[in-house]
Amino acid sequence: MLNLDPNLEQYILNHTDPEGNVLEELNRYTHVNILNPNMLSGHLQGKILELISRMVRPARILEIGTYTGYSCLCLAKGLQEGGELITIDRNDELSGVSTTWFKKAGMENRITLLTGDALALIPGIPGPFDLVYVDGEKTEYVAYYRVVFDKVTPGGYILADNVLWGGKILDPESERDESTKGILAFNEMVTKDMRVMNVLLPVRDGLMIIKKKEDMNIE
Ligand SMILES: C[S@@+](CC[C@H](N)C(=O)[O-])C[C@H]1O[C@@H](n2cnc3c(N)ncnc32)[C@H](O)[C@@H]1O
Repeated sequence: MLNLDPNLEQYILNHTDPEGNVLEELNRYTHVNILNPNMLSGHLQGKILELISRMVRPARILEIGTYTGYSCLCLAKGLQEGGELITIDRNDELSGVSTTWFKKAGMENRITLLTGDALALIPGIPGPFDLVYVDGEKTEYVAYYRVVFDKVTPGGYILADNVLWGGKILDPESERDESTKGILAFNEMVTKDMRVMNVLLPVRDGLMIIKKKEDMNIE
């Protein structure tokens, strides 16, 4: 995570829309009851995801990495009327948790949770998707990008979380772990990919925004 001065962080949150009751409760619930609560996107990044989704107005969203459902609920807020979000997580112990919160948010009819390995499931899920959020295993980012790319609408977006990986992307080569190598390979691949335009936003742990150029075919 990027370390912001706590006062600056509080100022930013004071000048950002509030989280809202359900997301605030889910955030608290996750921190009290679930392992690795730092995986949850949180107030600021959640609002950014929500606003991006509201700008894109997607008919269909795909998320890789549901966890307890926080980012999923943020993204779902921007769906078009009648739109749907498919979210995938391989941890079946969390499926009861996320679906409970989808219901509490009144979003259960718009969100489909698939339990299993994203790389095994995605080839069988028909596209197109207007927005894809990548937040699974860091060693697999390159593979996620490859498997979803042809399912993204021309002009659509892929967002990828943790692309600064706590600053480890600057570690010397000899000290890089597998996740760091995965993130570095992903960032390099996207930046060199002429089919997209991209920007790396220094928000929280780094958010890559990727836009597929309009003239690309979809699967
Ligand atoms: C960082 S958490 C997701 C956080 C969530 N997007 C949020 O902001 O609240 C990553 C999740 O991805 C899941 N995951 C990792 N690799 C996966 C894979 N190959 N297929 C499906 N789920 C995966 C993990 O089980 C974990 O729950």
